[in-house]
Amino acid sequence: MSKGWKFIDNKGTFELEAPQRSSFLYFPLANEAGMMSSVTPTLNGDIKTGQNTFFNLPVSSEDLHNIKSNRNFWIYIEGSGAWSAVGASSIQNARLFDKETEEKVTLQAGFLWHKVTRENGRLGVRAEITSFVPANQHKIELMRVTITNIGGGTLKFTPTAAVPVYGRSAESVRDHRNVTSLLHRVYVVREGIEVQPAMTFDERGHKLNKISYNVYGIDEGRNFPLGAFPLEEEYIGEGGCLEWPETVVSNKRNCRMEGQTIDGYETVGALRFRDCELAPGDSKTYIIAMSVTGDRTSEKADILEHFNAEGFEKLLKDTGEFWEEMLGKISFKSRDEQFVAWMKWVSLQPILRRIYGCSFMPHHDYGKGGRGWRDLWQDCLALLLMETETVRNQLLNNFGGVRLDGTNATIIGKGPGEFVADRNNISRVWSDHGVWPFFTTLLYLNQSGDFDFLFEEQTYFKDRLVMRSSNIDKEWTPWYGSKQKCENGNIYTGTILEHILIQNLAAFFNSGEHNNIRIENADWNDAFDMAAQKGETVAFTAFYAGNLTELSILLIRIKEIRGIGQLEVAAEMAVLFDTLSGGIDYDDPKAKNKLLKQYYETCVHNISGKKISLDIQKVSEDLKIKGQWLSKHISENEQVRSEEGYQWFNGYYDNAGLQVEGQKASGVRMTLTGQVFPIMMGVASTEQVNNAVKAVNRYLYDSVLGSYRLNNNFNELKLDLGRCFGFAFGHKENGAVFSHMTVMYSFALYRQGFVSEGYEVLKSLYDISTNFDRARVYPGIPEYINERGRGMYHYLTGSASWLMLLLLTEVYGVRGASGNLLIQPKLKKEQFDKRGTAEARTVFAGRAIKLVYNNSRQLDFGQYKITNITAGGKKISCHMTDGAAIIGRTDILEFDPHVESTIEVELA
Ligand code: G1P
Repeated sequence: MSKGWKFIDNKGTFELEAPQRSSFLYFPLANEAGMMSSVTPTLNGDIKTGQNTFFNLPVSSEDLHNIKSNRNFWIYIEGSGAWSAVGASSIQNARLFDKETEEKVTLQAGFLWHKVTRENGRLGVRAEITSFVPANQHKIELMRVTITNIGGGTLKFTPTAAVPVYGRSAESVRDHRNVTSLLHRVYVVREGIEVQPAMTFDERGHKLNKISYNVYGIDEGRNFPLGAFPLEEEYIGEGGCLEWPETVVSNKRNCRMEGQTIDGYETVGALRFRDCELAPGDSKTYIIAMSVTGDRTSEKADILEHFNAEGFEKLLKDTGEFWEEMLGKISFKSRDEQFVAWMKWVSLQPILRRIYGCSFMPHHDYGKGGRGWRDLWQDCLALLLMETETVRNQLLNNFGGVRLDGTNATIIGKGPGEFVADRNNISRVWSDHGVWPFFTTLLYLNQSGDFDFLFEEQTYFKDRLVMRSSNIDKEWTPWYGSKQKCENGNIYTGTILEHILIQNLAAFFNSGEHNNIRIENADWNDAFDMAAQKGETVAFTAFYAGNLTELSILLIRIKEIRGIGQLEVAAEMAVLFDTLSGGIDYDDPKAKNKLLKQYYETCVHNISGKKISLDIQKVSEDLKIKGQWLSKHISENEQVRSEEGYQWFNGYYDNAGLQVEGQKASGVRMTLTGQVFPIMMGVASTEQVNNAVKAVNRYLYDSVLGSYRLNNNFNELKLDLGRCFGFAFGHKENGAVFSHMTVMYSFALYRQGFVSEGYEVLKSLYDISTNFDRARVYPGIPEYINERGRGMYHYLTGSASWLMLLLLTEVYGVRGASGNLLIQPKLKKEQFDKRGTAEARTVFAGRAIKLVYNNSRQLDFGQYKITNITAGGKKISCHMTDGAAIIGRTDILEFDPHVESTIEVELA
């Protein structure tokens, strides 16, 4: 077993020996200004600020070991020759598997910095390279290189920093790589080089460009480079390469000097520093900056202000503190200290996805930045646990993407609430999209008690697609704009509640022939995308069932809180509350579809703008009937069994209109998704949950991998369900351990009180992600674990948000309940430390809270209950209900907003 990373302090800093001996390792360096880097132990990985502004060559995971051409720092040692301080030289690669000559490399990383130390005993040299992206307003990555003489004699060397500058759109890697290099204008300046392409050629057209890609260097004595070798072909020499550049290898000295310009070539930020002589034990430090600036001048003074050894140290410290503060808001303490630190890395992940979107990491070599609709909402789960107040606006803006037919914009712009009409004529509809906004909003309402939010007005998104993209609004043109209008030409707005109702009601009526909700172009499983005609998602039907039921309860709550009897919605929507006027037969899917069509026909182009007032109690009952109908339908009709006698939920219908799961001629077929949502949403009875758990353990648990697969092996290329069956089994959406669904499975079990079962699932995921020998990822949760046990698509995954939600609100049991604070721990005995304590830090009602559980008798879940609660040593009034303690929001608001308050909970 290879030695994995280990945490070396209580701040989450970890260390890994010989990181170069693991492929595919990469680490994120980023800031909120939009600098997005990835860095590997050999300082490969790319730097970019967006799809059209890649500082260096975009890399995919395979490029990490095949092309080692990104950041480099060379020294030409007198008497020995060229040595790469990052290990990216042909000779170092050649010696990789040789115990005698392989270099000693150690990696350390923290929030958010990356340090690699590389030692070559034979040459008597050590390099320590620290990289980070300062948490400030600049798009800049900094790198500090310290060369130390660890030999017995004098070390004489010539240093050259070498960072290739690609400086253009990712699209140009294949499309006119050469032509776009002709646009380059390179300026040799005092600090290094600036590459400012004259124009940009990309999908936006041919435009004048101002953006500049800069490589600056300075040594510890504040000396700038002597000059540069900016022409890549000149730098590498005829027949050379970035891993063996002639300029360095032959120690050429003819660098270009400040004031020179070079036009029209591929570029490298190869900066030559003056020769250095180090006595044994002495060191010399260099700072290199890679920045992307709006032009060549405006940010320069600001960047240069801290561009020295002291400035580097200060920015590094500030950056550490920035992340510490950001991530310190939610944390946990339990017996397993490694788990606690690991969770800290998990809590970074939702923030990373806010910055990188679902693109721009080596495995995430697709997309152009931004996130899809469901990811947008799910990431908010964790973000709103950390910063409830600021997320309000984001939620409000997000609702502007909902269409009147209950679907939503597919393209989400960069700015808040910016939705873009699809220019590529993609008319896909994901059947799950309607569930997430309410799920997230409900968390927000419970955390904040801000029920007014539901009555905020918001616009609707409009483009040419109508009736769940089955039709086109022929009257719509881009000049109409992307906001729904009324007949009088005014932009139509409705309450947030109205938006939520439309999303969930439209789905309810959109049933397939088996009376579950149609899968349309896919659901959560993006790769179940080939069953649009006859496919149904029972899994998400269960989710909608839960939503409708919760909505019905919410309306009663609103009625009480606001003292209102009526609810105002768009007049056209009245038909959707069919039980208010006689009702249709829900057993007949065609009747449902007909009613939906009736509604859709009233809002093809403009909407009347008229509102109708409905009795809130009756609306609540209508939703309840619908929710219950769906639940009953699923639990009575969608149970399947195997010959061995296991019983579970069928989650899907394929495009032949057949149940996907159960005992088939080819064997048993089962999905985890099909079990998760009926359990999570309370559709499954206790017996059904028990049965499903047994079946999951039998058919989806893999004892070799040590966790639960997304599906078992269907052993067929199921073209009537989705493209994922083209993936080899055990990979991605075809049967990998897909973290997101596994976390949701655990969440569902905890939510229904199946704590031991939920704990096993959670633990399996943690164990499998931290088993470095197989997973080979840094701390955090990867999107999935493949057939070989390797962690894939690290960092940018919705599972991180869900894991935080699970830990805080279920396992540690701290969450909002209509704005009050609910405490209901579901901790197992082994999660308490030796003294019987477990802690969670969170923010609630703007107050920093440390919750301490005292279980001095070391009781297990089920054996303890809350016996006493104190805040700041004084007993606090609380109300007990179903084993949970509820502390009123007003009591919490009395806590000092400037310091952390401690709530102690006795368990006995
Ligand atoms: C990814 C996508 C997500 C999708 C899932 C399954 O999951 O981002 O939208 O639902 O694959 O297809 P992630 O782990 O990133 O949440």
